[in-house]
Amino acid sequence: MSRARAAAESTVSVRDMRERDVRHVERIENQVSAIPWPRHMLMAELGSAKTIDLVALDGASLAGYLLASRYADVWHILNVAVDVPFRRRGIGRALMHALFLRAAGPGLLGFTLEVRVSNAGAISLYEGLGFVSRGVRPGYYSDNREDALIMWREPFAGVVP
Ligand SMILES: CC(C)(COP(=O)(O)OP(=O)(O)OC[C@H]1O[C@@H](n2cnc3c(N)ncnc32)[C@H](O)[C@@H]1OP(=O)(O)O)[C@@H](O)C(=O)NCCC(=O)NCCS
Repeated sequence: MSRARAAAESTVSVRDMRERDVRHVERIENQVSAIPWPRHMLMAELGSAKTIDLVALDGASLAGYLLASRYADVWHILNVAVDVPFRRRGIGRALMHALFLRAAGPGLLGFTLEVRVSNAGAISLYEGLGFVSRGVRPGYYSDNREDALIMWREPFAGVVP
């Protein structure tokens, strides 16, 4: 890692999402997602006991977020995004690492997610964290009927530096 990148990453912190974060998350969501989550869905997620919802802060700025939900012993990553000016500084990776730490515990089977087959950047992020492809959901995305790649990570999958 370069010295400049290490310095940039050191200003970033990750914590649980709070209600007052939701309007910032909603703003980013509307900019970066073709199918943005509406506020009521974000709020419902926050109220659930079976979720891990995180934000990454760069100083006072909300730079990114991650929403995950537990189904039986598997954590499903529902949404992860980083605001455009903050990308390629390790924030997406930091959010995922924070999830892995919080989700760790007896009985955990693994992590799963869907990602657009065209989303090479996100696929590269996930592969670097030990996710592997486990199939395709044809026409999964409602905006353009793009296929989703199903990815899976064992609880303690090795992290490729
Ligand atoms: C995908 C996303 C969350 C990545 O966030 P990020 O903070 O920029 O990612 P990081 O800086 O942590 O990247 C970690 C690694 O992932 C890979 N990666 C991330 N973005 C990449 C891109 N655009 N192209 C190629 N590789 C990429 C790289 O290997 C990167 O390591 P490097 O910078 O040392 O080369 C961000 O691009 C985003 O919000 N995209 C829009 C929303 C989205 O597609 N979410 C995923 C839905 S499944």
